Amino acid sequence: MSNYHIKHLEEYFQVYRKSVRDPESFWEEIAEEHFVWRKKWDKVLSWDFTKPDVKWFEGAQLNITENCLDRHLPTRGDKTAILFEPNDPKEEAQHITYRELHEKVCKMANVLRDKGVKKGDRVCIYLPMIPELAISVLACARIGAIHSVVFAGFSANALATRINDSDCKVVITSDGSFRGAKTIDLKAIVDQAMEDCPGVNTLLVAKRTGTEVNMKEGRDFWLEPLMDKAYADITAEVMDAEDPLFILYTSGSTGRPKGMVHTIGGYMVFTAYTFKNIFQYREPDVYWCTADIGWITGHSYIVYGPLVNGATTVMFEGVPTYPDHGRFWEVVEKHKVTQFYTAPTAIRALAKESLDYVEKHDLTSLKVLGTVGEPINEEAWHWYNNNIGKGKSPIVDTWWQTETGGIMISPIPYVTPTTPTYATLPFIGVQPALMDEEGKEVKGNLVDGRLCIKFPWPGMARTIWGDHERYRDTYFSAYKGYYFTGDGALRDAVGYYRITGRVDDVIIVSGHNLGTAPIEDSINEHPAVAESAIVGFPHDIKGNALYGFVILKETGTGRDRNNLRNEINQQITEQIGPIAKLDKIQFVPGLPKTRSGKIMRRILRKIAGNDTSDLGDISTLLNPEVVQEIIDEAL
Ligand code: WT7
Repeated sequence: MSNYHIKHLEEYFQVYRKSVRDPESFWEEIAEEHFVWRKKWDKVLSWDFTKPDVKWFEGAQLNITENCLDRHLPTRGDKTAILFEPNDPKEEAQHITYRELHEKVCKMANVLRDKGVKKGDRVCIYLPMIPELAISVLACARIGAIHSVVFAGFSANALATRINDSDCKVVITSDGSFRGAKTIDLKAIVDQAMEDCPGVNTLLVAKRTGTEVNMKEGRDFWLEPLMDKAYADITAEVMDAEDPLFILYTSGSTGRPKGMVHTIGGYMVFTAYTFKNIFQYREPDVYWCTADIGWITGHSYIVYGPLVNGATTVMFEGVPTYPDHGRFWEVVEKHKVTQFYTAPTAIRALAKESLDYVEKHDLTSLKVLGTVGEPINEEAWHWYNNNIGKGKSPIVDTWWQTETGGIMISPIPYVTPTTPTYATLPFIGVQPALMDEEGKEVKGNLVDGRLCIKFPWPGMARTIWGDHERYRDTYFSAYKGYYFTGDGALRDAVGYYRITGRVDDVIIVSGHNLGTAPIEDSINEHPAVAESAIVGFPHDIKGNALYGFVILKETGTGRDRNNLRNEINQQITEQIGPIAKLDKIQFVPGLPKTRSGKIMRRILRKIAGNDTSDLGDISTLLNPEVVQEIIDEAL
């Protein structure tokens, strides 16, 4: 019997040791006993981190939707697979059973096939959190198409870049989306993106808001009538374990967004196994992750991980503050949620409001609380623990990344004793390492360094779409033979990990990973801007907010500063999305630069964080005099 479900600490240590001593036989056992394969693998693992080249379960064949759907039909056909909670609490929730979900996915798969989508084709999904989003994802997987979900808060520009990068011919969207009191005209955004996407020949449009839309003859089709006509079964395409399952874009510290490619077999095994243990899922639990499927958290822990395990997974369309700040807790009470997984930024925002919003709801169903996306500060941790968990539900602070596919460092609830702000121990099969400045691994406890992973795990991304070299350069070149995460971390006396934050030019705002480069590019396109640099600074709710240092062109210097600020943010909103807007914009005469011309963000970060006591040696700068000028005018 494999150790699919860890139940106490001794067992964790024992299984962890086994997973490190003999990873192949460990993962083979898990894969063998808990999943359905059309054909078993020839080789469990082959790898080389220098190329890098990683293959899990090579030679195996499967379809992930048979694991998510078909195999549950005999025993869980009438069980709720997806519990859809609409934006408006007055609208009724939908309980979609495994049988119904199977039917809808098959219909959608037939619709896609009718539109010419074949195995290996890329399909872009730009939908709000409505059931069609999960259905589209699974329908792609059913026919072996590669889904590329783009978060529906992204702008037309960002959408077009992503559609073109992976050459999607089909886009699935909706007329509009509801977000709290707002209605967003999604189709209009897609129409705008289409001006730059000549390769797209089909738009499938789900009806959600009833917003009036333009339908382009021959290209745009309402989804519903096609679904109604479609046949409710379709043979699952037989896929290789190492075929791509999806592309998901994440920001890089430089340049274009990176299309991370995840493959089927390893991703399935890793997300399912982590889900089962880290949320201690037991039937008939009702599990709720508040993320959007537009992010990796939603892919792995709203769709795939839960469904492979036959779980009931809540899909929430709305926002935590609508109709009031008690919405999360109202939904927990209404559906008797047992596991609740959210982001520190949401916790901080709700912690600012009256406790009445919490206390009027019965939260006794909760057994496990989770957080993800950024380090959780101590205050937020305690608020969550005391007021939501009532000191009785362990908090799993789960550290992972789009690139890792699933959770890497996290407590196992009721197994690992938790410590506020610590992600604690590596999950089974995960081998972290901390590296020093010289690039050597630091051993032992009470140390810190840059967080790397030294052995492959099944859920890791295999490449960046269309740019394997960039994959190698970004993740495998800083430390030879290691995967570099971009994060700093410390290991305490008992071996617990605490993630201290990014060590590169990625800034995490409200749990969203934002690269500095695309935002700076966007600012620089403003006609009055000569150059800019952005850094993060501490923010009560968002964790970090963005501070922009902007040099104006001659033509801009006479203009009204606040108008300019608004225009710059408008530009960012249009090109990237509102999540990338700057909280502060300071107009500066110059930016501190090294002699090789690299902006010294370290100094700007200190100024933005209002801590200029120790700026270090600035005498080697090209233009040290500019530093004092910036400090004097800091916002
Ligand atoms: C970056 C990855 C994984 C899904 C959401 C974000 C930060 C994530 C934690 C945590 C401290 C965290 C890291 C990481 N991060 N979880 N529990 N504690 N930091 O995915 O957009 O790929 O961002 O988020 O800095 O590298 P992502």
